[in-house]
Amino acid sequence: MEEQQLVFLKMFVLFLILPLAAATEDGPSYDYSGYIECKNEPEDPLYNGGMVINQNQSVSSTFMLPNLSGNTIYSFSSWVKINGSNATTIKASLTLGNDTKMCIGNVIAKSECWSFLKGGFVLESPLNDAIVYFLDSNGYNVNVTLASASLQPFTHQQWQKDQQNSIDKERKRAVTIHVSDEDGNMIEGARIFVEQTNRDFLFGSAISKNILGNLPYQKWFLERFNAAVFENELKWCETEPEQGSVNYTIPDLMLDFVRANQITVRGHNIFWEDPMYIPSWVQNLTGDALYSAVKSRIQSLMTHYKNQFVHWDVSNEMLHFDFYEQQLGQNASLEMFKLAHETDPLAWLFMNDFNVVETCGDLNSSVGAYVGRMKELEEGGVTMDGVGLEGHFTIPNPPLIRGVLDQLAALHLPIWLTEVDISNTLDQDTQGKYLEVVLREVYSHPSVNGIMLWTALDLNGCYQMCLTDPNFQNLPAGDVVDNLLLKEWSTGVVNGQSDEDGTFSFDGFLGEYMVNVDIGNMTSNSTFFISKGDETTHYSIQL
Ligand SMILES: *[C@@H]1O[C@H](CO)[C@@H](O)[C@H](O)[C@H]1NC(C)=O
Ligand SMILES: *[C@@H]1O[C@H](CO)[C@@H](O)[C@H](O)[C@H]1NC(C)=O
Ligand SMILES: *[C@@H]1O[C@H](CO)[C@@H](O)[C@H](O)[C@H]1NC(C)=O
Ligand SMILES: *[C@@H]1O[C@H](CO)[C@@H](O)[C@H](O)[C@H]1NC(C)=O
Ligand SMILES: *[C@@H]1O[C@H](CO)[C@@H](O)[C@H](O)[C@H]1NC(C)=O
Ligand SMILES: *[C@@H]1O[C@H](CO)[C@@H](O)[C@H](O)[C@H]1NC(C)=O
Ligand SMILES: *[C@@H]1O[C@H](CO)[C@@H](O)[C@H](O)[C@H]1NC(C)=O
Ligand SMILES: *[C@@H]1O[C@H](CO)[C@@H](O)[C@H](O)[C@H]1NC(C)=O
Ligand SMILES: *[C@@H]1O[C@H](CO)[C@@H](O)[C@H](O)[C@H]1NC(C)=O
Ligand SMILES: *[C@@H]1O[C@H](CO)[C@@H](O)[C@H](O)[C@H]1NC(C)=O
Ligand SMILES: *[C@@H]1O[C@H](CO)[C@@H](O)[C@H](O)[C@H]1NC(C)=O
Ligand SMILES: *[C@@H]1O[C@H](CO)[C@@H](O)[C@H](O)[C@H]1NC(C)=O
Repeated sequence: MEEQQLVFLKMFVLFLILPLAAATEDGPSYDYSGYIECKNEPEDPLYNGGMVINQNQSVSSTFMLPNLSGNTIYSFSSWVKINGSNATTIKASLTLGNDTKMCIGNVIAKSECWSFLKGGFVLESPLNDAIVYFLDSNGYNVNVTLASASLQPFTHQQWQKDQQNSIDKERKRAVTIHVSDEDGNMIEGARIFVEQTNRDFLFGSAISKNILGNLPYQKWFLERFNAAVFENELKWCETEPEQGSVNYTIPDLMLDFVRANQITVRGHNIFWEDPMYIPSWVQNLTGDALYSAVKSRIQSLMTHYKNQFVHWDVSNEMLHFDFYEQQLGQNASLEMFKLAHETDPLAWLFMNDFNVVETCGDLNSSVGAYVGRMKELEEGGVTMDGVGLEGHFTIPNPPLIRGVLDQLAALHLPIWLTEVDISNTLDQDTQGKYLEVVLREVYSHPSVNGIMLWTALDLNGCYQMCLTDPNFQNLPAGDVVDNLLLKEWSTGVVNGQSDEDGTFSFDGFLGEYMVNVDIGNMTSNSTFFISKGDETTHYSIQL
């Protein structure tokens, strides 16, 4: 009788849950594969091709898409080859019904091997008979051979579910606390209070010198962030506006603030290839005089700040600008990396650039260009320690962001989003909405190690996007950061009691915790750390 009831109950549950599950969770989970090597043979298509049914290799400058539904996220990928002796950067461009062109991926294609293109697009409304065009950097059609193409649709719910799974796996860990007495006897019914006191994931914001002596700014910053970067104060224009006038007073004071509060800080930047931001006296130098100024800059800065910054952006935005290469020859940046490494061997050296993850329409900073430049530097004898992606977004394209991160993940280096903001061409509500899209995408990506917002509050506002008004009252973007960082991505307080085995279990975000256990007149306070790992971590407390 009891068994029958149980069977009945199970069937009831099954019938209730299956239709629901079908509506929200159907379909494959996201495939994070990425390939940056050019291969002799293409790999199998992701998702077995997804909506692409005819997998025969085809030569064409276009690719016909099946009729597509709206309110859907599409992940697109393909292996690509071209004819001709030169590698060519190709962008895949989708034409929407109203003639709007949208870049959905890019790749450096070659003739002797297969390259992998990964990206995608989001459709609000249905799209019939759509065509993807393959274009070169001048916007001309290019014939490509495609193999193992894949177009996989995801509902927004499926997309978010993959983010959540990834966060559970990468940013959290299961914990079991064991409570016993001095003799090791397990204690049931002890009251347990756990609170996260520090986050392991490095999430920060740029700060400006306006923070010095500004207690409300300091308080606001410290309540949220565990990482920082100085917006302008280390740049050459600021530290040496005239030749020989080196002055580190301001960044020294900012470093004092950061040190006093255990904030991790990035070094930004040693050189900036954009002539707009090069001191005018440097722009006047050539040849040996310029080389000698470059050398002094590295030696002065990196000796003064030896061991102080976790990363250094060495030759900022070198995929878009080349002032030093023009003046000193094509190995100028290579020399900078070498000298920086010699001067501060423990510093982690980064490339830092825009439009790598923000869009795929800028072929100067395609994934292929980023990886290619990195390889060039490595062949020249420097070790690259991480991937710096600025992240100055306008309208974010989530499947492209994820595809680009998947590709860069194949480098097996830490990836940092270094300057995240949303363009001020959008209103504040929209900035908030898109910031949430971007933060969810990058925080959940397994290969992202840190996120910095480009939201330093200067006397006259922020670069593109502020989190607060001048009185530290949140703007929409500030609400987004607080809801994610302080609530959704923090464990906060967990309360409970030890069970009959003397244990208490919970899932916690990685970081530092304090735990208070008491039963009767016995009590214990201690701290522990949840570090990254797959298995449940165990922590024992003796009363
Ligand atoms: C794909 O190629 C095979 C032979 O290689 C052929 O039999 C098949 O009809 C082709 N399929 C399509 C849809 O063109
Ligand atoms: C390859 O590139 C070189 C240098 O840019 C150019 O001179 C040459 O014409 C190109 N070859 C082809 C086949 O496009
Ligand atoms: C074209 O259509 C897309 C998608 O429907 C829409 O997002 C975009 O605003 C439209 N552009 C113009 C110029 O109408
Ligand atoms: C795609 O939509 C067009 C109308 O826009 C229709 O003529 C065509 O038959 C559709 N194709 C498929 C495969 O459903
Ligand atoms: C692509 O190849 C086809 C067939 O060989 C040719 O007719 C066409 O002109 C080529 N297109 C381009 C852009 O080279
Ligand atoms: C490359 O050249 C071969 C031989 O001429 C031709 O069969 C093939 O279609 C060409 N591929 C592309 C992508 O143009
Ligand atoms: C260095 O900068 C600080 C802050 O701007 C200033 O007060 C100080 O006078 C400067 N020192 C020299 C030697 O110019
Ligand atoms: C740069 O050189 C020009 C021409 O020699 C000179 O007039 C100018 O003062 C120099 N600027 C700086 C900042 O040294
Ligand atoms: C791409 O880089 C080259 C060389 O640095 C530069 O001349 C060109 O202006 C850049 N293009 C863009 C769109 O930044
Ligand atoms: C640049 O550096 C590489 C690697 O050290 C070297 O092979 C090459 O000759 C250098 N090129 C120039 C123009 O100095
Ligand atoms: C704690 O309580 C137990 C019994 O409830 C008693 O035997 C013991 O003496 C107490 N210890 C202290 C330090 O008060
Ligand atoms: C343990 O921590 C709690 C809450 O922070 C505090 O109230 C209590 O006095 C502490 N107990 C001991 C024994 O330190």
